[in-house]
Amino acid sequence: MNLTELEKLAASGEKIAMLTCYDATFAKLMELAGVDMLLVGDSLGMVLQGAENTLNVSMHHMTYHTKSVAAGAPNTVIMADMPLGSYEHDDEAAYKNALWLIRSGADLVKFEGGGSKVKTARYLVERGIPVSAHLGFTPQSVNQLGGYKIQGKTDESAAKIMADAIAMSEAGVSFIVLEMVPAALAKKITESIKTPTIGIGAGVDCSGQVLVMQDLLGIYSGVSGKSPREFKTPRFVKNFLSETNSIQYAVSSYVHAVKNKSFPAPEHSY
Ligand code: KIV
Repeated sequence: MNLTELEKLAASGEKIAMLTCYDATFAKLMELAGVDMLLVGDSLGMVLQGAENTLNVSMHHMTYHTKSVAAGAPNTVIMADMPLGSYEHDDEAAYKNALWLIRSGADLVKFEGGGSKVKTARYLVERGIPVSAHLGFTPQSVNQLGGYKIQGKTDESAAKIMADAIAMSEAGVSFIVLEMVPAALAKKITESIKTPTIGIGAGVDCSGQVLVMQDLLGIYSGVSGKSPREFKTPRFVKNFLSETNSIQYAVSSYVHAVKNKSFPAPEHSY
């Protein structure tokens, strides 16, 4: 499936099942299991490198893993994250870094934030680079946001996320990832714009869902060096491996659950 076909699938109302992926072996397995889109997320800073957050991920890390994923899943749409520092300062630098990710095998790039980032999204889209926005909780701003907190709980912050989603949609982005926002807000946004939304901790009414693959397998237990007992699994995470006992089945069971809207259930939503 290419990006145009995937956009048509989303427009038809079928839910989009997306997972993060960082290497060729898992990319091939996920392609065979019917995952619609793979995200080479800068979450690799946490789940591969053992860091506390995503702030030290570089363009070199992202292009290396994007190449690996593209080699494993040549027939699946690949979204690659633009890491912190690669897109905020000026649009020309953002374009060059986005192009580097595209030439490494990504079909589209994702970056975090609304506001001034709308102009950057438009700049890239006008130059032929497909873009996904990422609104709500934006992990690269974890320190400014005061930790891993749900966004859009007050009327004011909900209105800001809605306004950013509308502006990003008008700028021509292909998808909008909504992370850790109340399900009711994600539903309202999804109904208000043409651009498909992909939720993570944003309820079942988004156009699709994404999960970090280590979370789907129940194998992430927090930063290296800290006891897993200190780690609190986020509410939106579901371990699909415990029910299936096979990685291949866990992934296809996730795809199935997203398509038939049984995941996320209310207990995974805010
Ligand atoms: O980096 C990542 O894995 C992400 C998801 C949390 C959406 O951006």
